Order: sequence, then C-alpha cells, then structure tokens
Amino acid sequence: MVMKVFLCKLERTVILYNLLLFIGPIGINKKNKIKLNLCYRGPGAGGVRNWVYDNMLNFFEDGLRLSKGMTHKNALAGIWWGGAKGVMARNSGKGLQTFDSKEERKTVYAEYGDLMTSLKGCYHTAEDVGTNTEDMRNVFSRTRFTTCIPADVGGSGNPSVPTALGVSIGIEAAFNYLNRKLVDATIAVQGTGHVGKPLIKFLFSKGVKKIIATDIDEHRKEDILKEFKDFNFELRIVKKDDNSILFEDVDCVAPCATGGTLNSETIPKIKAKIVCGAANNQLLNFSTDDVLLKKRNILYVPGNGTLRNDPNIEKHLGRTWENSIYLLCLKVFKESENNDKETTNTISLKIADKKSFEVNPIYGHRGKVIIDALRKESTSVLEGTSAKL
Ligand SMILES: NC(=O)c1ccc[n+]([C@@H]2O[C@H](COP(=O)([O-])OP(=O)(O)OC[C@H]3O[C@@H](n4cnc5c(N)ncnc54)[C@H](O)[C@@H]3O)[C@@H](O)[C@H]2O)c1
Repeated sequence: MVMKVFLCKLERTVILYNLLLFIGPIGINKKNKIKLNLCYRGPGAGGVRNWVYDNMLNFFEDGLRLSKGMTHKNALAGIWWGGAKGVMARNSGKGLQTFDSKEERKTVYAEYGDLMTSLKGCYHTAEDVGTNTEDMRNVFSRTRFTTCIPADVGGSGNPSVPTALGVSIGIEAAFNYLNRKLVDATIAVQGTGHVGKPLIKFLFSKGVKKIIATDIDEHRKEDILKEFKDFNFELRIVKKDDNSILFEDVDCVAPCATGGTLNSETIPKIKAKIVCGAANNQLLNFSTDDVLLKKRNILYVPGNGTLRNDPNIEKHLGRTWENSIYLLCLKVFKESENNDKETTNTISLKIADKKSFEVNPIYGHRGKVIIDALRKESTSVLEGTSAKL
C-alpha cells in the first residue's frame, strides 16, 4: 500500500490519509495515532491501545489491522457503529510492565481527550490493552466522545467482563456444535488480564473441569492463584514469546493476550479441537491461517467481543436474536462445514463486510461528513510533505 503522509503545521502534529487520521506526538514523548475504518454504520468506535512498538511500521500496521477488525466486529454484532482504533506508542522501551508516572499518564490521556473533541465525534474512543479505567476518566475530563468511563461519572466502566462473557458464550456454542460437554472439559487460557481472568471465572461457573493458564507478568501470579484456589487451576509464568500454552492437550484454547499467535508455526502444534479467545487479530495471516486451522479440523471461533449496558447489545448474550453471539457462531460453523472452500473466518468476514456497508438509518453518512470537513480544515495547514515510513 502506498501511504502518502502529510504533516500539519499544528502544535500537535496531525497526519491525515484518506479516512486515516494519524496523530502524534502529543504529551511527553508519546506518539498517538487514530485509524478510522469504514463509517457507513456510524461513527468509528474502538478502544485506544497503549503498547510498545518496535518501529513505526509495526505501529501503523497494528492500527490498521485493529481498526479494520473493529469495523468487522461492530458490523457482525449488528450494532450501528463504524470501526476505528486509537494506538499510542509507549516509547519508554522498557517493556510491558514499565508504566509511566501517574502525572504523565494523566497528561497524555487528557490530551488524548482534547484530540477526541477536536475530531468532532467521527471517532468514539474506549479502553483497550494498556489503557485502564482511570485513564478513561482522564480522557472523559476533556471529551464526551468516549465510552468505558468509570461508573461514578455515569459510564459502564471496564468492558472486559462482558467481553469475557461473550467469549464464554462462543466457547459454549462451539462445544454444543461439536456435541462435546463443557462440564468435562479442560481449557487453556493465554493471558489472565482484564478478559482472561473473568473468562476463567465464567468457565468454572459453567462447570469446566480444569483450566491451565499462562501469563508473562510474575506480579499477577499470587492474585490469580488466590482467586482460583478452590478450582482445578494451574498458572504458569512464561516469557513474552512463549506460546506453548496453545499446544496443550486440552479441549479448547482461548488466546486472551496479544494478536498474531495463530500462525503457520503454532497451528500445526495445536491439539485442541476448538480455538476461541478474546485477543484481537489472533490470525497472523488473515487469508491463510484460517485455512490451516480448518485443514487441521480445528473449529476456530472468530471475532469475539461485546459491549454492554444497552438493551440492544444485551441481546447479544442471549440465544434468540439473529445477531446474538451464540446463533451467529452456529450459523458460521454450519456454513463452513457445508462448504469446503470456506473457513469460519472467511464466512464471518463475508457477513461482516456486507453489513459494514449498511448505512446507519439515523445518522446517514455523519461519520464521513465529519471526516471530510476535518480534512478540508486541515488542508490549509498541510505542508504536503510526503514521508516514507
Ligand atoms: N478488554 C476488553 O474489553 C477487550 C475487548 C475485546 C478484545 N480484547 C482483546 O483481548 C486481549 C486481552 O485484552 P485485556 O484487556 O485482557 O488485556 P490485558 O493487558 O489486561 O491482559 C493481557 C494479559 O496477557 C498477558 N500476556 C501478554 N503476552 C502474553 C503471552 N505471550 N503469554 C501469556 N500472557 C501474556 C499480559 O501480561 C496480561 O496479563 C487483547 O488482544 C484485546 O485487544 C479486549
């Protein structure tokens, strides 16, 4: 893809590309980017990820992949939002657990809130990996274009618990489809963070026999082990690149850490018959890794995740609405089984693609109109410099 990048003469550098908006750097030594994907269904919605990126290419690629994923997720879920994602490059270079000082975080997230306001509602931000509810409070101090704000200021708080519930429903659908019993199952969970931990809770409450989990954060160990001390639970602390949990001899594997863990190296070693987790972009290669899974007769449940506190969205957790996670999973599994050439991934993408072009019945093209206006405003200050990434 050719990327033409324009640098603005604004105090806060803004880079615009078609429907992409790259923003950076703001705050202290921070780089921020927002990627807006298709907005036919409504303004772009998706969380802001605060992550360590090795280079600019990874930074851009992650934003592109994640926002496209949000377009598909929101469309698949049948909700009237387009797709978008914010990405912050944490450039301390000291790894995942080196958090910035409280003051520094406050500045960055408050400025990020200003940025949301300046985007006039074409993007509504939310929480994602590396961003917490307190950060969202700081975003909310400067903008109304955000969800996932703390309950004491009127928000729905952290979305991870309902996300975990959604994943557990996807797992249930897969077990039922394969005529397997969840009650006798052993499940492997990669990552015991905001989603992984409640997922383990939901699975035990549904009677799962045993859960094996990994995490890379030694500090989580005591807390997690304490939480599940009454269950048949095992936790291993591993290195960042260690994906061995995926190869356990279990019934189901739930990737709930980072994306790209399902690839040509890992898939041949997976023993489980079901893969269903929360991690965004689990397939490293979108067009070949799903085929590898299908060839190995592994039922892959794509695109999990959910939102809450809206009666329409709550329907997703039920079993009657056509867009509910449960019924949608069964539909996708069946279509894939009936067609050798289609994987669960390609079928869900086709459904998502089709739905993502449906125009919001109330907002019309509001997202696009706002973006076009922003682009027009910015043109006057564009340097027109083409930068190589
Ligand atoms: N939080 C949400 O509401 C939500 C919604 C939809 C999708 N997701 C996706 O689900 C995934 C998890 O999100 P989260 O909010 O739980 O993030 P989190 O940062 O709270 O948890 C991730 C956990 O995984 C661990 N981890 C990282 N690399 C690992 C590895 N190689 N092996 C084992 N553990 C590893 C981390 O130490 C951390 O404890 C992400 O991909 C996110 O984009 C999250």
